[in-house]
Parts: sequence; C-alpha cells; structure tokens
Amino acid sequence: MKNHFYGRDIVSIKEFDNEDLDFLFKSTDKVRNMQQSEKRELARGRILGYLFFEPSTRTRLSFEAAMASIGGISIGIADVKSSSLEKGESLADTVRVIDQYSDVIVLRNPLDGSGRFAAEVAEKPVINAGSGTEEHPTQAMLDLYTIWKEKGRIDGLKIGIVGDLKYGRTVYSLLYGLTNYDVEIHLVAPPLLKIRKESIYEVEGKIRIHEHEVLNDILNELDVVYVTRIQRERFPDVQEYEKVKGSYVIDSKVLENTKSDLIVMHPLPRLDEVSHDVDNTPKAKYFEQVSYGKDVRATLLALILNEKF
Ligand code: CP
Repeated sequence: MKNHFYGRDIVSIKEFDNEDLDFLFKSTDKVRNMQQSEKRELARGRILGYLFFEPSTRTRLSFEAAMASIGGISIGIADVKSSSLEKGESLADTVRVIDQYSDVIVLRNPLDGSGRFAAEVAEKPVINAGSGTEEHPTQAMLDLYTIWKEKGRIDGLKIGIVGDLKYGRTVYSLLYGLTNYDVEIHLVAPPLLKIRKESIYEVEGKIRIHEHEVLNDILNELDVVYVTRIQRERFPDVQEYEKVKGSYVIDSKVLENTKSDLIVMHPLPRLDEVSHDVDNTPKAKYFEQVSYGKDVRATLLALILNEKF
C-alpha cells in the first residue's frame, strides 16, 4: 500500500481516513517486531526539532524516545522562557529557524490554529502536538491503536468519552478519528463541559452520538471508557472550575458492574478522575496507551521521513 504519510504535515486527524489509519496501525506492528539494528536505520542521521510552548511529559518524551529508537536525534525547546520568544521573536520566525535545523518539526502551542500556521510557515513536515483546545492528532492515533490492539477491532464498539469535553483537545481528535469507524459514541459531561456544538455539527451524520450527564446511565454498556482530566488551566474563571471539578471518579467499585472486558483509557495526566485502585485491574489500559504511544510515534516519524517503508 502507498505511504500517504510521506512528507506530510500532521495538523488534524481529519486529514486521515480509515485506510491511512489501518496502514499506520499495521506499520506500527511491523516496527514493533523489527530487530533493533533494522529499526535504527529508519531515521539514521535525521533530526527532529521540537518546540513545546506548553507543559508536556508524555508527548515530548515519547517523540524523543521514538526518534532515538529509529536512529535519529532530537533537538528543541521545552520551555518558552528559554527561547527567544521571550525577547519578542515571533512564532513564525521561531518555526523558520527550527526548520533550518530539522527534518521534521513537532510543535505544541496554546493557540488554536498554531499547528496549521506552523505547517504553512515551515518547509519541513510539521506535527501538531497539541494546539490550544483544538486538536492533538497523534494522541488520537495512539488512542485508536490502543483500542485496536486491546479490543482486536474498533468497528462495532460502544465507546464512552467522559469528563472535560469542552476544553480537552484529545477528545476532539479522538471524536474526528472515530468517524472512520462504525462505532456508537457516548459523551458524558456536566452541562458546563459539554462538547462544543460546532464539533457535533461537523461529525453529525458520520457517527452515532448520544450525550449524557450521568455516567452510570451508560457505563455498564460500554466496551471502552475514555476518561479525561478537567483542564483547570483553560477555564476563564476559576470559580467555574470549582463547580465541576471531581464530577466523575472511576474507582474499582464503580467498575464492579461494568462489562468484564471493558477497557479504561486516559490520555493522562490524571488528577483524581481515575483512582489509583483501578491501576492494577485488568481493565486499566492507560499505561499501555503510553507505551503504544512511543511505537505509534516512531512509526509515524518513519513514515513521514521514508517514502518506501
Ligand atoms: N497526553 C498528553 O498529551 O500528555 P502530555 O501533556 O504530558 O504530553
């Protein structure tokens, strides 16, 4: 199959269809099974340049680990205060500079539209690692791969997405990615954190969606529950955050009446929405998600950098 990822920007998951995602997942399995020596040839001598202008643990480190695993190196800025943006340099010039040093660029920025903007400015492929409340496409790719691996399929599943559906960018990318599959989506959020209407309009007709406020109304029917953190840092008013924090807590007791093969996912970081007593149950898959994330990102980089794969 043709590699549609070669030389491409990864700005929105909407630009990738079922066939592309299937190719990515099968390629990821191939990379996972490669000998180290073969794997290290995939990006030997290539440079990943990253710009993280919002905090990150998983995304930045998994891209670095992924690039190292395929033989490349990473350079970058992990803190806006240590960059010349602090001296007033523009985002455009910063992207143009890292473009000179790198073969592929990874950007996280607090502004919606920043991924698209960087992709227009840079000559090298740009991977959006989180743009404001808008999208986080590689998170959705690894989320979908996790479901595919852990459930053996995506079609036919009932998937619950719970928590901060208003500000959580992983939710939007996951929802758009799921439009490629025959799934039933259950969105669970308090009224203040309901999904933004324009996104519902966008996916309407492509996917079956039901909205709930009470998790127990649907939890026992779900095959996958994707829990998200309530994003305090994105609330314009902290009092609004106080009203909704702790709205949903998944603990081992809550899971008692759920399907025996339910999987619990979370993009992480978590606060108290998934209790630590869930971690050692077979339903908890969020650390597997972290591990799959490195493999999916390594494969994505390999596909972007190599036409023939
Ligand atoms: N899931 C995720 O994007 O985590 P980080 O914010 O730690 O990168």
